[in-house]
Amino acid sequence: MTTILLLGRHGQVGSELETPLAGLGNLVALGHADLDLADPAAITATLARVRPHIVVNAAAYTNVDQAESQRDQAMAVNCHGPAAIARHLKISGGMLVHYSTDFIFDGTRHTPYREDDAPNPVNAYGATKLAGEQAIIASGVKHLILRTSWVYSARGSNFVTTMRNLARTRRELHVVNDQTGSPTWARTIARVTRDVLERRTRNPALCHGVYHLASGGETSRFALAEKLIELIGRDAAAAGFVRPALHAVDSSHFPTPARRPAYSVLDTRKLEGAFGIAMPRWEDDLEAFMRLPAEIPPHQP
Ligand SMILES: NC(=O)c1ccc[n+]([C@@H]2O[C@H](COP(=O)([O-])OP(=O)(O)OC[C@H]3O[C@@H](n4cnc5c(N)ncnc54)[C@H](OP(=O)(O)O)[C@@H]3O)[C@@H](O)[C@H]2O)c1
Repeated sequence: MTTILLLGRHGQVGSELETPLAGLGNLVALGHADLDLADPAAITATLARVRPHIVVNAAAYTNVDQAESQRDQAMAVNCHGPAAIARHLKISGGMLVHYSTDFIFDGTRHTPYREDDAPNPVNAYGATKLAGEQAIIASGVKHLILRTSWVYSARGSNFVTTMRNLARTRRELHVVNDQTGSPTWARTIARVTRDVLERRTRNPALCHGVYHLASGGETSRFALAEKLIELIGRDAAAAGFVRPALHAVDSSHFPTPARRPAYSVLDTRKLEGAFGIAMPRWEDDLEAFMRLPAEIPPHQP
């Protein structure tokens, strides 16, 4: 039986992966408290103990602004840790499924990024994620690097849940309209990861390399907030909801330590063609997400 080791089990994507991956084999799911990706000795000991055929790494240092001042820690988690896993799996004959980000691109394009477009991260987080990709590829391990974007889930803090809360409590909201991307539901990332792994025996050659995994379509953060407010207003349970006034601003209105790419839409045709998968439109996923009960508080270690 295939043994799958899931890392990052309490994160947005990791928590959605547990159920679908459990259907594919013997699943061992670990969180940060069980394994610190910045501790190479702990990585070696865990892999020797679990002996996974597949490692699905949903753990990462994801605080984009904090990474500017904690670059070494971000590099340890996003690059050195995954590199150590990759080297181990190269020797054992295992496979690494690893998530990466739209933030490896500089955002100067106006059409969706393809897998072989030149990366050029504009912040420390993107640089550490790119270094992680490069280290995995250089190790020669059998790998799937799945780049995704603008992830949201019921767990933890993300743009969608933050906006949902603000929309219900504020009379006015200022939202940036100079960042464009594809909001992607963590549940969809998990489902598609499962589908790809399920099809790996039919497509062993395709089940290797870099793929873009994001919802279809694109939106600015401002238009995403508009859509959210429309959905909240449509919800019968939101009787008494007063729509806040939305004001479009540019990113200079909210100075942050890290720059964000202005345009980071991912072209997913490679993934869809290789595995016969149709990515949902971001609006459809957002509607499905909004029909679920409110958010789950973040995991407390
Ligand atoms: N969030 C996004 O918008 C976005 C966009 C594009 C790509 N991605 C990529 O998608 C993947 C999943 O992201 P996500 O949104 O699910 O992130 P997330 O919710 O922040 O989850 C990441 C998990 O990694 C854990 N972690 C952090 N440092 C660790 C360490 N040193 N050792 C072990 N575990 C550690 C965290 O645990 P603690 O919280 O306990 O530290 C957390 O449970 C990541 O590779 C990320 O780079 C995310």
